[in-house]
Amino acid sequence: MKNYGLDIWSNNNFIIDNGEVKLNYKSKPSILKIVQEIRDKNVRGPMLFRFPHLIKKQIETLYTYFDKAIKINSYKGSFNAVFPLKVNQFPHVVEAVTTQGSKHNYGLEAGSKAELILAMNKTPAGAHITVNGFKDKEMITLGFIAAQSGHKITITIEGLGELETIIEVAQECKLKIPDIGIRVRLHSTGSGIWAKSGGMDAKFGLTSTEIIEAITLMQKADMIENLTMIHFHIGSQMSDIAPLKRALREAGNIYAELKNMGASSLSGINIGGGLAVEYDQHTRAKSRNYSIDEFSSSVVFLLGEIMDAKNVSHPDIFTESGRYIVASHGVLIAPVLELFTQDYQDRLLKFKENNPPLLEELRYLYKKLGEKNCIEYLHDALDHMESLLTLFDLGYIDLQDRSNAEILVHNIIKKSLYLTSSYTTDELQELQASLQERYLINASIFQSLPDYWGLKQHFPVMPLHNLEKKPIRAASIWDITCDSDGEIGFDSEKPLFLHDVDLDSEDYFLGFFNIGAYQETLGMDHNLFTHPNEYTINIDEDEYTITNEVESKNILDILDSIGYERDEILNKLKNDLLESDFITEKEKCDTLAKLEIFVTQNGYLRTTN
Ligand SMILES: Cc1ncc(COP(=O)(O)O)c(C=O)c1O
Repeated sequence: MKNYGLDIWSNNNFIIDNGEVKLNYKSKPSILKIVQEIRDKNVRGPMLFRFPHLIKKQIETLYTYFDKAIKINSYKGSFNAVFPLKVNQFPHVVEAVTTQGSKHNYGLEAGSKAELILAMNKTPAGAHITVNGFKDKEMITLGFIAAQSGHKITITIEGLGELETIIEVAQECKLKIPDIGIRVRLHSTGSGIWAKSGGMDAKFGLTSTEIIEAITLMQKADMIENLTMIHFHIGSQMSDIAPLKRALREAGNIYAELKNMGASSLSGINIGGGLAVEYDQHTRAKSRNYSIDEFSSSVVFLLGEIMDAKNVSHPDIFTESGRYIVASHGVLIAPVLELFTQDYQDRLLKFKENNPPLLEELRYLYKKLGEKNCIEYLHDALDHMESLLTLFDLGYIDLQDRSNAEILVHNIIKKSLYLTSSYTTDELQELQASLQERYLINASIFQSLPDYWGLKQHFPVMPLHNLEKKPIRAASIWDITCDSDGEIGFDSEKPLFLHDVDLDSEDYFLGFFNIGAYQETLGMDHNLFTHPNEYTINIDEDEYTITNEVESKNILDILDSIGYERDEILNKLKNDLLESDFITEKEKCDTLAKLEIFVTQNGYLRTTN
């Protein structure tokens, strides 16, 4: 995996320079330098970095490509976009999205009451709000309040019941009626792991029969003028463009039919999200088969073609892609705490004056191992190891001899793999996989990469430094939760190699990239590890600045958030200690002071790494 697939997934956002990963923007700071600046303030544990310039880049790209497609195809409708809050509701993300998008009137999408309240607070004047998901009367009333307060809001109905409630609310109160959208249940399904959002058995949307009934209901209630949009969403992270094209044909024809049935205010088609992010690090396994250019051209061209054929004016296009907008802005930095086979270090070899002949043989092989003899010596070493283990079982060699043999053979394999790293054979690959190094990271996969835990969604990972050296260790990654699912195992189809580092003398940091979409709000406080410290990094021509620092919850905060009384918890700890025997009053005071520090720090590990 050359350069950790940076050329595949990073979209030119990051570069390797001088052995370090740097931002490919303006002053091009090294991520490691930013990490070190923060750690110099005694911060430990994982960190989440936000790079708002990458949100800006994605918003600009989205609008630029759609505007270009509209121009090329002489399309008459406009392009509009909203950011779906479910993808990341964290304040500094919403702030970046709304500020960077304001010149385009970039709006917000809400899928719940809480998100709607947030959208009503944060949507810039003039920008759209779209509302999806199941709604009760309260949520629908909130939509009326938003319309009354001046928002351009469209409530998309997911079923006829919601339309009946809208009619009921309109009849009960004098508030302005919001625009209404209909989510259509398409025959076409999407592609990728989230494809089940589309298709006839999808959770959301109206069938053709229900759509006709909805039109009749709206006509009867004198509300057909409020029907402005039809909506579909065939699933997030769409891997293939073909299903989108089928969905566009289907939805486009439904739109044209409804226009011809008298839905004269209908003016927009909302194509939902789906625009995929490249998460893969290995050329063989790309996440998507299309570019933003192909995506935008397909949408604009197909809708234009369908409308022209049916003699219907071109609808305004709305998108709700959020993953595409914010995934790249978030990077998780995880310090490595331990390499599990560090026990196999040369310094732990303890030879006797007289060692068993086979052990002496291994010592010789290790010393003389070179490029030319390496495969032959490797075979000899593996053979000797078998014999030494048998000798141990029969009581002919002791535990010290066995330990020496294990260290020597382990290091012979390691050195051989290094020497043969320019070519490989099945045997070497097998050995590599069996000699995996386990890198323990100071982070929680459940909290920070929940889609890996739940769906095995791969996120690009690479060390932030040492990149001038060849990584030779087949790596699996373990997190610090007490759960064996908190592991990213070595996958020979998508192998990860990391450096052989001595953590007693150097730090080693891994970066997990493209984690800005969904991971933060889906993240679980498993083992009570909470959202890591976060920092917004603004980069200009000469330097970078770190702003919006949000500290991870401390231990008392975490317990408090799940319903414990923080004072009760702390007092109990203090009283138990004060009432204990065997230590002096001074020792009690010192220990109490320590305790107070421990409980007011976050729960991640605070070793030097
Ligand atoms: C209705 C709707 N719109 C937009 C999105 C966001 O899509 P994406 O994840 O592709 O950004 C979703 C997510 O599944 C959705 O359900």
